Amino acid sequence: MDPTPSQTEPVIRVEGLVKRFGGVTVLDGINLTVNPGETMVIMGGSGSGKSTLLRCMIGSHRPEAGRIELFGQNICGLDEERLNEVRKKFGILFQSGALFNSMTLYENVALPLQEHTDLDPEIIDIQVKIKLELVGLREHANKYPAQISGGMKKRAGLARALALDPKILFYDEPSAGLDPVTSAQIDQLIIALTRQLGVTSVVVTHEMDSAFTIADRMAMLDRGRMLFVEGRDWFENLRDTGEAETASLDEDRQLIRQFLRGAPDGPLASRRDAQGYEADLFGLTPDRVTRTPSLEPTRG
Ligand SMILES: Nc1ncnc2c1ncn2[C@@H]1O[C@H](COP(=O)(O)OP(=O)(O)OP(=O)(O)O)[C@@H](O)[C@H]1O
Ligand SMILES: [Mg+2]
Repeated sequence: MDPTPSQTEPVIRVEGLVKRFGGVTVLDGINLTVNPGETMVIMGGSGSGKSTLLRCMIGSHRPEAGRIELFGQNICGLDEERLNEVRKKFGILFQSGALFNSMTLYENVALPLQEHTDLDPEIIDIQVKIKLELVGLREHANKYPAQISGGMKKRAGLARALALDPKILFYDEPSAGLDPVTSAQIDQLIIALTRQLGVTSVVVTHEMDSAFTIADRMAMLDRGRMLFVEGRDWFENLRDTGEAETASLDEDRQLIRQFLRGAPDGPLASRRDAQGYEADLFGLTPDRVTRTPSLEPTRG
């Protein structure tokens, strides 16, 4: 009998996640599940909370409420030592690639194996070469990060993220700052790794071409709220909804449609117009903006 998706336990389950910085709620009751072997793309405007959600999922931010299960284990209550055990099961590719500049690419990839395993140097050597080959950098193994391009740094970061054969790979803006061709190559690499190695991928991006290329499912964040988590087709249909039918969509769907199309007009534009400027101009907090601002000095 074929296992149906409902019989497969998610590798990541986020429930009711709340994260605040100071008094500001940045994530407000987020729910999200990621199934084994799928690529989940998390989208949203700048400041919507994508990186914060990712950092919560890898245990670098502790949430104020909610649970985050990785492989069935709630990581929220874990101490650093046990968190580090869980961390061995996933790889992370940060925006910059986060390589050590004083080490060659070879040494950068070897480091996690030296630190976290008891493998013999000969086995580590083979592992490093396999990982560098996977990302097409084996012949550049002895170069330092300063000697390679931004795209190559991303690939090297990926090779290092793969060092411990992770079950999950987290990416934050993998194609940011890359030219379109290099960016497309990174996308193809993400797809190839997912297929060849069976890893589950969580990718934060606001690059829509990339999102639609790699995603199985997509999640749309807006100002700390999760608006929708749906299959890629669902988002494609919404993006391609004609102008005439748009008026019948609710505001969340209109907002996502605008976002996916990168259109200047729509709910996001009017939101920008309506908010912030007056507050900025008169030094008011947003909930006071409705009052008529006074230009009189407040002193006295
Ligand atoms: N360590 C922190 N301390 C205080 N506020 C933070 C911290 N990290 C993020 N924030 C705030 O949380 C909100 C969400 O930030 P986050 O970095 O998650 O956004 P994002 O969706 O990744 O944006 P971008 O697309 O620009 O990377 C922002 O308002 C940001 O200023
Ligand atoms: Mg971010």
